[in-house]
Amino acid sequence: MATVLTQAEAGLEDIIATSTSICSIENGVLAYRGYNIDDLATNATFGEVTYLLLYGKLPTRTELETMEKAIAEGGKVPADAWKIIKGFPLTVPPMDWLRSAVSVLSFSDPDYKDGSNEANLRKAIRLTGQMTTLVTAFDRLRNGKEPIEPKVGKSQAYNFLYQLLGQEPDATSVKTFDICLILHADHELNASTFSARVTAATLSDMHSAITSAIGTLKGPLHGGANEQVMIMLGKIGEASKAEEWIRAALARKDKIMGFGHRVYKNGDPRAKHLMKLSEALGKMKGDTKWFEMSRLVDGVVQKEKGLLPNVDFYSASTYHYLGIPTDLFTPIFACSRVTGWTAHVCEQLAHNRLIRPRAEYQGARDQHYVAIDKR
Ligand code: ACO
Repeated sequence: MATVLTQAEAGLEDIIATSTSICSIENGVLAYRGYNIDDLATNATFGEVTYLLLYGKLPTRTELETMEKAIAEGGKVPADAWKIIKGFPLTVPPMDWLRSAVSVLSFSDPDYKDGSNEANLRKAIRLTGQMTTLVTAFDRLRNGKEPIEPKVGKSQAYNFLYQLLGQEPDATSVKTFDICLILHADHELNASTFSARVTAATLSDMHSAITSAIGTLKGPLHGGANEQVMIMLGKIGEASKAEEWIRAALARKDKIMGFGHRVYKNGDPRAKHLMKLSEALGKMKGDTKWFEMSRLVDGVVQKEKGLLPNVDFYSASTYHYLGIPTDLFTPIFACSRVTGWTAHVCEQLAHNRLIRPRAEYQGARDQHYVAIDKR
């Protein structure tokens, strides 16, 4: 009789499946290449973090400007790819549209057949720019507007808001969004990064790895939770109903989106930054309702379940305050995490070994074939 896997075993909980020098989570501290996320969120820009993840060090001013220029220029989606992508239905969830669009991008990539580290870094840069163009284009196209190309000389945060809304974003919104991108850029061996590494390890290609990762990020137990948080806040409707609503949901044994984490048991270090951003934006916009409701939900879930908010919880109200449509929340996660995914693909390929674990067989044994007419 086969032994039944424990829940922890089934989820590969705490299993070390690779080594990395890109990102660590140790004693509840998240660090990118040794730099504490608190330090980076407070002092760095997303451009610097992108460079750090991809090239292993903080850039000089010239290196940063060169890379940001390459991201903005690479972010222009080629006409032949647009021809295919613009044929996709716009009524599908944006993560599905994005997953297929990124796959199409591979055909027109100038390094299509080149899997070298240099070519993969170039693909990483182009994909970082193109993801922003695609996500913002999806929203524009479904609203009958043409996509906007990124502005060279501007940051990813600026370009995302500019390409989405079609107007110069204000400095506070750009700074807020830049911090959000920093906080989502990498997270050790999370599910989507694992997918990317598994795909890369077969010596497939960068676009396939990123397509796998997008498909994995989409799920509500991973990146899809931020969208679900906003949907939940919308259902709660007003702060006075938050406590009763959450108690009823917990009584039904529903999972409250944006709470709990596989790795952090004493709190996700990213959540406090997002909480502050949500509060500040709410005050600035004169609409603290979503922040206040979030605080109440947070209080009840902590009290009733002892669960703390994760990165997805306060990012929901923050993005909402930035005027971003709810179904773009998870695609935004992808626009940031593409930097981590691509860095991990390069790292995987630098010391590659096929990732091929085993499964414990629990099915029937000693079966004998029965002809189809006799079944
Ligand atoms: N709401 C209510 N109960 C919860 C929650 C939650 N958000 N999270 C965990 N629990 C409970 C579970 O029901 C389970 O209780 P039980 O032992 O009585 O059955 C216990 O806590 C352990 O939970 P698991 O789901 O087994 O823990 P796991 O490590 O597998 O899950 C996960 C982590 C998936 C993040 C989980 O906490 C969850 O589903 N949270 C909601 C979705 C979410 O916010 N996902 C985003 C995660 S961050 C990210 O990926 C970017």
